[in-house]
Amino acid sequence: MNVPLYQPEEAARHSTPFEWIGGEDKVHALVERFYDLMDLEPGYRELRAAHGSTLDNARQRLFWFLCGWMGGPQHYTERFGHPRLRMRHMPFAIGIQERDQWLACMDQAMGDTGVDAVLRERLGKSFFQTADWMRNTPA
Ligand code: HEM
Repeated sequence: MNVPLYQPEEAARHSTPFEWIGGEDKVHALVERFYDLMDLEPGYRELRAAHGSTLDNARQRLFWFLCGWMGGPQHYTERFGHPRLRMRHMPFAIGIQERDQWLACMDQAMGDTGVDAVLRERLGKSFFQTADWMRNTPA
């Protein structure tokens, strides 16, 4: 994603956002909570509807992707090469509503899994940049 996730003072305390968040177990818990919420919460209905009947594939791949994106193990690129997220999302209509539901769902998941408030805000800004860049329909 486009925006650096941490500034030098944080980098001095945590070598990567991956370490800061608490490693693979924490990223895994975050992704599980994210898709559980997407499944459960009426406020994310349109986002859920854009996905297939099962979220299993998405759970696995977002976990792999986020580990690498946060500076941890490159599970995703080892398996699939460059993420090319915008291209991979072209089959799904992403407008303002889907973008905002994705971001709200992720923010709620970060809150529920106890992500540090400073990191949560920084990740939120970076998620916004990427989700906004992935919009491919006007509405
Ligand atoms: C920052 C925002 C987002 C990130 C980081 C992200 C990340 C990902 C990743 C890594 C995958 C797996 C890609 C693959 O290997 O095929 C994926 C799949 C997917 N994403 Fe996103 N995504 C974002 C936003 C969205 C939004 C706004 C939508 C709304 C429609 C969406 C819908 C989907 C769907 C439908 C899949 C396919 C799931 C499946 O294969 O079952 N994503 N996303």
